Amino acid sequence: MKNITARIVLWIVGVGYPLLAITAVLLALSKDPGYPQLIWQNSLIGSPVAVGASAKPSNPNGLSDFEMTNGIGPLKEAIEVGAIDPALAARGAKLFKIKCSACHKLDERYVGPPLRGVTSFRTPTYILNMILNPNEMVQKHPVAKGLLAQYLTIMSPQGMDREKARAILEFLRQDFEQNMK
Ligand code: HEC
Repeated sequence: MKNITARIVLWIVGVGYPLLAITAVLLALSKDPGYPQLIWQNSLIGSPVAVGASAKPSNPNGLSDFEMTNGIGPLKEAIEVGAIDPALAARGAKLFKIKCSACHKLDERYVGPPLRGVTSFRTPTYILNMILNPNEMVQKHPVAKGLLAQYLTIMSPQGMDREKARAILEFLRQDFEQNMK
């Protein structure tokens, strides 16, 4: 009988308390507005939340609301996307293979983050600005900066123009439709 009591006490001290402590730390982190961003980026089955829509990331560089949501770059107005255009997506798939797959896989972490589902938690305009203007994005945008801190590699510009970037966006949208919905 004594033995069982001792075991229960040991279990509480050895397993219960550490678990409680870990939970408390995770809870505290998740309340820091800077962290949910990083957590999303890891969860592939991302939240369908646009940048800045729920937990607002910190904004030390004083970006405008537009920039927080849509990134910093050549696109100063949000683009509209409609139904997926398969021909455009096919072009994007080819470009992705040539220009992006050295660093990105769709479904797992590589040099850069996995991109499957990115269209569910970043706006189309944000994705285009990231593709077209990665240097400034990682310097100034808290989300891109957070990713840089995680991946420790700067996404080098890939000589993309708007049309090519748009085709890749279409490919990523189609990939999400086909694999995650
Ligand atoms: C040299 C490696 C490299 C190449 C090439 C590269 N990327 Fe990246 N990419 C990264 C890294 C690393 C990050 C995280 C931010 C950072 O550290 O610069 C990133 C971030 C991103 C993001 C932001 C993801 C998010 O969750 O916000 C998108 C979108 C993206 N890349 C798309 C592309 C596309 C499209 C191409 C091809 C045109 C490309 N990347 C080429 C390394 C690369």
